[in-house]
Amino acid sequence: MIFLKTDEEIELMRESNKLLGMAYGEIAKAIAPGVSTAQLDKLAEEFIRDHGGIPSCKGYEGYPATLCTSVNEQVVHGIPSDKVVLKEGDIISVDCVVGLNGYQADSAYTFPVGEINSETMRLLKTTRECLNLGVAQAIAGKRIGDIGFAVQQHAEVAGFSVVREFVGHGIGRDMHEEPEVPNYGRRGNGVVLKNGMVLAIEPMICLGRRNLILEADEWTARTVDRKPAAHYEYSVAVRNGKADVLSTFDYIKEVLGDKFI
Ligand code: MF3
Ligand code: CO
Repeated sequence: MIFLKTDEEIELMRESNKLLGMAYGEIAKAIAPGVSTAQLDKLAEEFIRDHGGIPSCKGYEGYPATLCTSVNEQVVHGIPSDKVVLKEGDIISVDCVVGLNGYQADSAYTFPVGEINSETMRLLKTTRECLNLGVAQAIAGKRIGDIGFAVQQHAEVAGFSVVREFVGHGIGRDMHEEPEVPNYGRRGNGVVLKNGMVLAIEPMICLGRRNLILEADEWTARTVDRKPAAHYEYSVAVRNGKADVLSTFDYIKEVLGDKFI
């Protein structure tokens, strides 16, 4: 069942997303060569709890951490570890869900670590554009397939591939609600979008082939060809006439300045 949110609920979700956005600002400050993903996880958990939020991934189906930290060829659900130390030229996708006042916020951002090669930077920029193009379809009267089509088209024209095993989702009181939001599809297919739906739109795009395997920890998904992948995600309210992005990357932007993607 798809839960339509009231205006009041959407404002509560904007609040949980604001806290998540602020946590991303702290993460952005900390990302640098020599920093471990466990350090990032610790600071994120402390920041979220200090501000009254709940790190919702921790304990979700046994997941052990606040953040998912997926480095280079890791696509999603990388587990933070003191053994994973960032180095110049890496990319790191950080994905996090925060609960506040009973409502979940979900967003993700792929950060470059220092200078990265130009093809990987093109992957990051293209994936970020895919997110914006998907979001632009989150309008009442459009369909789920319109979102997927917009994302897939842009990624594939750029020569990249779209992950199929993981998809976006409805979000609200629960992290994962109906409907599923694939990053591929056909225009005019799927569920009709209605005012008050809230969707986590999250393109996961691979520089090489889209095939994934699960690492031995049974969480981390990585590309088979070990080429990098990027992941950007917003929680978005479907509105009449214009999508309403509830998530914010503004705090990341403050930190990254002209390096903001
Ligand atoms: N943003 C991720 C998702 O939409 C968060 C899930 S991580 C988990 O699936 F650990 F909580 F599963
Ligand atoms: Co999500």
